[in-house]
Amino acid sequence: MLEYDPLKRITASEALDHEYFRMDPPLGRNAFVASQPMEKKAGMNPSVPRGDSTAPAAAATAKKERSWNGRLSKNKSTMEVERVQYTSPPSVTVPIIDLSDLDDDLVAHALGKASEEWGAFQVVNHGIPAELMRRLHEVGRQFFELPAAEKEAVAVLPGSKSLEGYGAKNPNLPKSWNDHLFHKIWPESYIDYSFWPKNPTDYKEVTEEYTRHMTKLSEKIMGCLSNGLGLGREKLKERLGGGVYKLGINYYPPSNSVIGAPAHTDINAFTLLVSNGVPGLQVFKDNHWFDVEDINSAVVVILGDQIMRLSNGRYKSVLHRSTIDKEKTRMTWPVLIDHVPGMIVGPLPELVGDDNPPKFESLTLEEYLYQSLAKRKERKDSNMRLGDG
Ligand code: OGA
Ligand code: NI
Repeated sequence: MLEYDPLKRITASEALDHEYFRMDPPLGRNAFVASQPMEKKAGMNPSVPRGDSTAPAAAATAKKERSWNGRLSKNKSTMEVERVQYTSPPSVTVPIIDLSDLDDDLVAHALGKASEEWGAFQVVNHGIPAELMRRLHEVGRQFFELPAAEKEAVAVLPGSKSLEGYGAKNPNLPKSWNDHLFHKIWPESYIDYSFWPKNPTDYKEVTEEYTRHMTKLSEKIMGCLSNGLGLGREKLKERLGGGVYKLGINYYPPSNSVIGAPAHTDINAFTLLVSNGVPGLQVFKDNHWFDVEDINSAVVVILGDQIMRLSNGRYKSVLHRSTIDKEKTRMTWPVLIDHVPGMIVGPLPELVGDDNPPKFESLTLEEYLYQSLAKRKERKDSNMRLGDG
């Protein structure tokens, strides 16, 4: 277990001044990928000052690992972000990766690197229509604004193992607040529609459309993560058995006395998270909490314990938490991807050998969840709803 100080938190700009980051970060670390030949656009005002671009090797590396700072386009109806090129940005925030890059190797490389160093990254230009995101936010907000009795219609059942359904604040976690809805969305045969809200009436249609985009995006990411491990594109997907997808919706009302989600790692393979634009997610790295910049339209990818195990520890399972805004309600939509029940959670055989012994036991998903949940229960620091199979 990592040692951390929950009160220590650092913003990207503070981190730039931090001693650690003045010590010559390895060139190209935390490289961002851009799709087109990049031009500096008029009126750009990058939040991160330029790194020391005079490093001699920078120009050569910049060709291979083009770096940029993604900024929001003024035009919110497009999914495009504007770009500005840097030669060597300091590694101060969760990497932002442009999925519209035509160079697949470059994308896989950036993704693999981010997964090794941070265990988290953001993807932009992923092809999910802005209008669909808007509708997803709308139906989620409408559901949580219903009277309690209507939300209770899809409540988690007492003693439920799957933990599917609506749950209000967890009384076992007095210092955190997290109303949530949670249910399976894919594959079809795993879905229990009794946990999907009937109100608002377009909840089902919007969620199904979002699911189609999420499975596509997740398969692209799995392909890159496989490539990043030096394996064929289909490898991770095969090992997950195609994956079981669950949608969570977190609802954090404004507060200045509680935290949102307490510090935890995700027990699943990986998570694709979007927010309603109210920042609050933080990830832990190098002994500090980093704010994850809230970029409209970006999807945050959080690697969890199952991917860490598959990769035999090469990819990090990132410790993260969420803070609560004092004035605004924050909402997030994590899509959690798990192994299919019965699949083996353990190091990929291609990644272990005499020089590289397995760091984790190989267990079926059910055994793995049983063990992990038992440990988490002991620690009492976990977000238990993440642990269903
Ligand atoms: C989660 C989670 C963070 C957030 O649901 O697993 O980490 O910002 N959420 O809501
Ligand atoms: Ni999480």
